[in-house]
Amino acid sequence: MPDTDTETAAMPASACPVAAEIGAELFEPGSQERWFESYRVLHERAPIARIPGKGWLPGTDAFIVSRFEDIAAITRDPRFFDLMPPEASPAAGGSSAVEAEIFREEGFGETVDAASTLRPTVEQHKRYRMQLWDPWVGPEGAERHRDMVTAAVNGLIDRWIADGRVEFVRQFAAPLPQTVITTILGFPLEDMPMLKKMEEAQVRRFVHGAGPKNELPEEVDRENAAVLVDFHRYIQDQIDEKRKRPKEDMISFLTQTEYEGRRLSDGEIISIAVLMHIGGNETTQYALTSEALLLAERPDVVAELRADRGKIRFFVEEALRLHAPTQGGAGGRFVPEDMEVHGVEIPRGSLLHLRFGAGNRDAELCPEPAELRLDRKNPGRHLTFSMGPRNCPGQGISRLEQNIAVEALVERLDNLRIAPGRNDFRHQPGIMLGLYELHLAFEQRV
Ligand code: HEM
Repeated sequence: MPDTDTETAAMPASACPVAAEIGAELFEPGSQERWFESYRVLHERAPIARIPGKGWLPGTDAFIVSRFEDIAAITRDPRFFDLMPPEASPAAGGSSAVEAEIFREEGFGETVDAASTLRPTVEQHKRYRMQLWDPWVGPEGAERHRDMVTAAVNGLIDRWIADGRVEFVRQFAAPLPQTVITTILGFPLEDMPMLKKMEEAQVRRFVHGAGPKNELPEEVDRENAAVLVDFHRYIQDQIDEKRKRPKEDMISFLTQTEYEGRRLSDGEIISIAVLMHIGGNETTQYALTSEALLLAERPDVVAELRADRGKIRFFVEEALRLHAPTQGGAGGRFVPEDMEVHGVEIPRGSLLHLRFGAGNRDAELCPEPAELRLDRKNPGRHLTFSMGPRNCPGQGISRLEQNIAVEALVERLDNLRIAPGRNDFRHQPGIMLGLYELHLAFEQRV
């Protein structure tokens, strides 16, 4: 926890264990297949572990934070509201200086600056979330999409239910959130194949970027930014069309609504649409995939869910806790002043890598943290959507999709199982826990 009141002298940062040296590897090639073991090592040996030279400012380090309480405290601490040091880069968190420069050159400077024009303070950030996001994807706003989501879930299952087998990622977990986010934003559904390419470019740094700052080689960053400029142009065309002919969708709403006594600029609307897209697709895809895998591995759990549909909500929360799609925070928190975190002196300019997936498996959070249990007292108490002012604004819609999907899978498929000999269970690298493929077999339930 920041600023702990310990009696013992805090450890200087330089004496803090180096993660790779104690056998806890999070960013090295192939390490994603051993993350959960690394979390046990971190919890036992170094709740704060160092990655030398990877801080925000020159000469500083990055620190992995793996305990539930420490991560929760940092997300709630207003000192960490600014994600990046003002002197490090002009770009918004999760982006890069190269990307920001290219967006500006291409006329999208307003989009780069949107974080500071829309939500520079904690109070404005709250209003921004409440007025612009919550009516569409917040816990209550998401409910307006229940019928649309249910139809999308069943429509996808209809396409393969007679086959008795499915490659679940490609045929369900990826297209479901794409359909949902595309519909909410009001993009034409026939654009989905093109939008998929944009989505891949958006998450490229979180999958193929190096270390806790998700750094791409400059050439790749430039090529990627060029694709994203096309995406910005596409959204601009959509805004132009919706300003002329508004419909019942989020972009039309953003073109019409008043925020802080004024209309939003096109650049600000683009920033929101981009965030919806980047936040809403892959993350929910990974959650749905983990849920299907757990159902296939645990027929006893399927039986329990069928016997009591009220437990589906508990199952979804446990799956989210155990297999957090965003295992590590994107970007990383900037340390704005010298401080102490869990007994380590951390200098200004360092980077805190919040390891949500490790916090979720902390024995101090719940008993038997590696176990899936449907009777946890506080099933939603995990870090998968983070906490504090920057917690995930899309958790309402994502939870809705997952609950409806799990119910339909349990309801419509019998004897769901892993298709023998067809899975290697490989995960992509980066900060997210995503299976490349999941081949399942089943019978149609009658
Ligand atoms: C299972 C699905 C999802 C997971 C695991 C997830 C996880 C997260 C996490 C961990 C954060 C970071 C918060 C922080 O740094 O403290 C975040 C932020 C964010 N998420 Fe999600 N998310 C999911 C779904 C969605 C959806 C469906 C949307 C949009 C509809 C969305 C939009 C965003 C945005 C815009 C932010 C940035 C918030 C800010 O800085 O204010 N996410 N999400």
